[in-house]
Order: sequence, then C-alpha cells, then structure tokens
Amino acid sequence: MGFDIRKEIERLKKEKNAVILAHNYQIKEVQEIADYVGDSFELSRIGKEVNAEIIVFCGVKFMAESAAILSPEKKVLLPVEDAGCPLANTIKAEDVRALKRSYPGVPIVTYINSSVEVKAESDYCCTSSNAVDIVNAIDSEKVIFIPDSNLGSFVQEKTDKKLILWDGHCNVHNRVNVEDILRMKALYEDAYVVCHPECRPEVVESCDIACSTSKMIEVAKETDRKTIILVTEEGMRHRLEREVKGKLIAVASPKLMCIDMKKTGLQHVYEALALDQVEVKVSKEITEKALVPLKRMLEIGRKQKEFIGV
Ligand code: 13P
Ligand code: SF4
Repeated sequence: MGFDIRKEIERLKKEKNAVILAHNYQIKEVQEIADYVGDSFELSRIGKEVNAEIIVFCGVKFMAESAAILSPEKKVLLPVEDAGCPLANTIKAEDVRALKRSYPGVPIVTYINSSVEVKAESDYCCTSSNAVDIVNAIDSEKVIFIPDSNLGSFVQEKTDKKLILWDGHCNVHNRVNVEDILRMKALYEDAYVVCHPECRPEVVESCDIACSTSKMIEVAKETDRKTIILVTEEGMRHRLEREVKGKLIAVASPKLMCIDMKKTGLQHVYEALALDQVEVKVSKEITEKALVPLKRMLEIGRKQKEFIGV
C-alpha cells in the first residue's frame, strides 16, 4: 500500500488531538482537509473555543499568532514559517508609539492583519467583518485606524467619527483597478460583484458590496443573480464553488493571488503534525498586552450578537 497523505494527516490529528484551521484563501486541498475554514474573525473565535491540544493554522503568521495569544494553553503550529502578510509588515510597534505621541489620548484600532508587537500597542483589534462596529462602539470622536488605509476609508464612509489613517495597503487587493471591474462587468452583464474592503475606495464604489471573505458566501447565496464576480484573493473561489451551487464564480483578475497564502500544501500540513512544527511562540509580556485589544474585539462581537439575538 502506498503512502496516503490525507489518511496520515487524519491519523495524526486523532493521535495528537489536533484540529486544522484554514483561511478561505488557502489552496483547495488544504481547505478540503481542514476541520474549519473561515475568515480571520471566525478562525480566531474558533481557535479559542475549539477543544484540542494542537491547532495547525493554515494561513499566514498574524492569524496563527492571534490564535496563540487567545489560546495560550494550546500549541499553535504554522506549517510554513515564512507565510507572512506584507500588509502587516507596513507598520512597526515604534510607529504606533509615535502615533500615540502625535495624537495623545486618541484610541487606536488595529486591523488583525498586524504583528503581535503592533497589537500590543493598540486599544482595539478588528477584522474586515467587524471594523465598522468596533469603531462605532468606541467612546471617542477621533480614532486612529491602522494599518490598512483602504479598509480605513471604507469604515470612514460608514461612521461619523474622524479616522486618522496609516498609509498601509494589501498589495494584492490594492493592485485591482476600476478598469478590471468594468471589463468583468462587460463580460458578465448581470453579475453580482463582491469585493473585499482592502480594495481601493474607487473599486469598492464600482462593486455591489464590500465585505469579509466569509460574508461573501452569504451574499452569494442570497442574490438571485447567477454569476458572482469575486474581487478578492482567488482561493475564495473554492469555498464558493463548494457552498454556492448552480452559480458561476469568476475571479475579477489574475492579479488577485496572495503568494503567502499559497505557500501551504498538504505536505506542510503533514510535516507540521508529524514533527510539531513550527510552533508559534509569543513572549508572556507581549501576549498579555496583545490580549487586551483582541479580547475587546471578541467582547464587542459577542455583545452585538446578543443584541441582534443570534
Ligand atoms: P478576512 O478577514 O475577510 O478573511 O480577510 C483576511 C485577509 O487577509 C484579507 O486579505
Ligand atoms: Fe495579507 Fe493581502 Fe495576503 Fe490578505 S491577501 S494575507 S492582506 S497580503
């Protein structure tokens, strides 16, 4: 009998009491082997709540770090150590300290796509699924929003507060322009166009809706239109093809490919489980500080769920 990598992964998972979490942008094979597939918010919540000793986090570093901070009692493994997020690298802790000196007393909301050191300097975390709610929940007229300025502009459109933005971008979503959208709309005339709020404001404006990756599944199911154009990383197509039946799913541009999200394959998941690698380690001091904004985000999310009765 040959070596069946999927069976071996399943065996090791049981033996070690491990779960596999995968972001919506992971390759098809990894999404299929995962226990949970989701957006950044869902995965951080699931990572905290799930009953397991080991989490194999198939995504990028900031996601695995958030899981490690939220679940210090679990071992969190990132199968490919250098799977990072260029957006997260656009700001450092010292930049946040400088912002605090320039705007004393103004609360800082940090997109989860950031390093643990940056989170540790922040007041609140947010993801694309709750950025507007988090900003609106803060008792201050001014808010510093870092590091994604496109997501910040998206939030600015939906709040009366004055946002101070950092000039960071996701180089994948920021590459798309309005011409790309118009070309797709001309090709698929009655399509529903769904983008991620990390896209440029004028691109967001040219689409039907901007939302987190998991919300895209909901809206794609709800619309009567038979074609969905995705203006987000191309891995999202697999999730939609699995869950939204009878509709054509098209990705707006070949530019929508995040190299870091594509680094993890089945072999890496197997090696991670077999060798317990690469364990994400965050110092106790940074964990304690970064836990504050992350917990505030989960708490605001929990209160809002109670409020709308879900
Ligand atoms: P979501 O939280 O919407 O999944 O987005 C994560 C991300 O990295 C987008 O580029
Ligand atoms: Fe980071 Fe952009 Fe890749 Fe998301 S798609 S992980 S924001 S580089």
